[in-house]
Amino acid sequence: MAYEPKEENPPNWKRDFPIRQDEATHISRREFAKFLCLLSGGLALGNGYVVLSSFAFPDKELEGEHFVCNTSDVPVGGMTMFAIQGTREIPYILIHLSEGEWRAFEQKCTHLSCAVVYRDEVKKIECPCHNGWFSADTGEVLQGPPPRSLPQLSVVVRDEKVYVTAFNDTVS
Ligand code: FES
Repeated sequence: MAYEPKEENPPNWKRDFPIRQDEATHISRREFAKFLCLLSGGLALGNGYVVLSSFAFPDKELEGEHFVCNTSDVPVGGMTMFAIQGTREIPYILIHLSEGEWRAFEQKCTHLSCAVVYRDEVKKIECPCHNGWFSADTGEVLQGPPPRSLPQLSVVVRDEKVYVTAFNDTVS
């Protein structure tokens, strides 16, 4: 039997809520098993939802041109972030590589989806999470754990305005 210290004059709150500490902190095997079942059931449902939603709402192919910014908004060597409204909002980066040369890539690293950034001092794209590096020209992996290149968009500049379209190697 557990040790129960006797208090002569317990405070009012203890009289109102007479819960013994050993009862309040004890977790039975049955309760623990129930918790594990609920947890694994929840995880299974979550995974199922992700799989089903990717079938139910597949990524739509990007159609048409999308305005990003004015050319004057991003100096040579600069980068800006943007998103295109769609079924899912994907973050992108637009890089002004050199005079008249623009590139646009998804901002999510292909390793674990950290946000990548353009480093003009080395002319590369860095993923700071696990020291991953990508080519700012093509999005190819140069170093680190990312398994695939960054998905790219084509950039079209017209009337001092920057637009992006689905990737097409003939447009730079
Ligand atoms: S998330 Fe980018 S390198 Fe790991």
